[in-house]
Amino acid sequence: MNILILGSGGREHALAWKLAQSKKVSRIFIGPGNAGTASIGNNLPLDPESFEGIKKAVLDNDIRMLVVGPEAPLVAGIHDFFASDEQLRNIPVIGPDRSAARLEGSKDFAKGFLTRHNIPTAKYKSFNRSTVVEIPAFLKSLEPPFVIKADGLAAGKGVVIVNDQDEALREVNAMLEGKFGDAGKRVVIEQFLKGIELSVFIVTDGFSYKILPEAKDYKRIGTGDTGLNTGGMGAVSPVPFADSGFMSKVRKRIIEPTVKGLSQEGIIYKGFIFFGLINVKGDPYVIEYNARLGDPESEVIIPRIKSDLFDLLEGVAEGNLSERTLEISGDYVTTVMLVSGGYPGNYEKGKEIHGLTTANEGIIFHAGTKISGGKVVTSGGRVLAVTAYGATMEDALRGSYNNAKSISFENIYYRTDIGFDL
Ligand code: AMP
Ligand code: GLY
Repeated sequence: MNILILGSGGREHALAWKLAQSKKVSRIFIGPGNAGTASIGNNLPLDPESFEGIKKAVLDNDIRMLVVGPEAPLVAGIHDFFASDEQLRNIPVIGPDRSAARLEGSKDFAKGFLTRHNIPTAKYKSFNRSTVVEIPAFLKSLEPPFVIKADGLAAGKGVVIVNDQDEALREVNAMLEGKFGDAGKRVVIEQFLKGIELSVFIVTDGFSYKILPEAKDYKRIGTGDTGLNTGGMGAVSPVPFADSGFMSKVRKRIIEPTVKGLSQEGIIYKGFIFFGLINVKGDPYVIEYNARLGDPESEVIIPRIKSDLFDLLEGVAEGNLSERTLEISGDYVTTVMLVSGGYPGNYEKGKEIHGLTTANEGIIFHAGTKISGGKVVTSGGRVLAVTAYGATMEDALRGSYNNAKSISFENIYYRTDIGFDL
């Protein structure tokens, strides 16, 4: 079967790398992909949010499954577009429909869903322009700091943590006045939770689910988790504190009520669910839902899947996921993101990347790279995810850092302390 993966990051390279190993997959197309995916399948010059262009590519290339990497096309309704198109109707989309993607696309919807299904999450309330006057009273019912979130998608920038009421009101007003465009027309205020975060993933066909490996992501740009937030600077899997006792709480209190809750609300969710969790003194709370896999989490969790990932996706498409097997390796896998100097602020692109072929004992997943004049050059902030395996986390990290050292491009930067807190 021919498949198309939408997206262009390290997550999509990892998906392509794994799906290419399936005997059931004939040709892999990636739209738009990067220099790494070009060595696995065919890159197509697609915009993941231009559905007509995707339709044409699907029909032209006899594609029989669409795997959606990023959230934007899901929130914009690519699943619904396929389901309602006469020529595309029978082509399964791995990724939820628009209504289910609200778990990620609307913080207000997600918090309402969590509350309706008694799933542990921070205390919250939503506000819009006409209810701003009620904010001071709500803040009095919380302990500072406060967490302010724009309701809609804001490219990972829509969450601000403030220390007092004045700051909170200033931030809410800035959001309501358009700091994040329409995403901030509604604002969620919630209690700050103190703990250590982790990312848990499932794949579901809307009826049953399988738990994929969990991971810990390092979001800040600087050593010791300091400085600006990024898309993620590295990741490790497994997460040592996510032992069987903790994961059994996650399953009973969070995963099961989520899957059951979706079906009770009439939603047949087909795809991945990413639970952004925080461990508060041994108890898991949901910080956020995402309707997709994480990046760079994918670059450590996908390499730990030993069984055929395509087989699971076929189970999602056919609604018989419970009959499929998922086998996970006990190895540690780590990844270190090599980024363009200046990221997540301004940075230059088009720098030639050297040393890509010398790395061994691991996998280099491409993120912001492209081929230009026969050379691999940088084309984004996050450039490469250097993944390695090990019997221990230290072994794996040694592999990632050894390989990172052999790669170079102008103004390269990476964190040297991934895994430091575990
Ligand atoms: P989100 O986009 O909802 O995942 O939020 C981005 C980041 O803000 C999270 O990864 C957390 O680090 C932080 N955050 C969000 N909500 C809370 C909360 N209620 N308590 C503490 N930190 C939070
Ligand atoms: N690494 C976090 C995310 O993918 O949202």
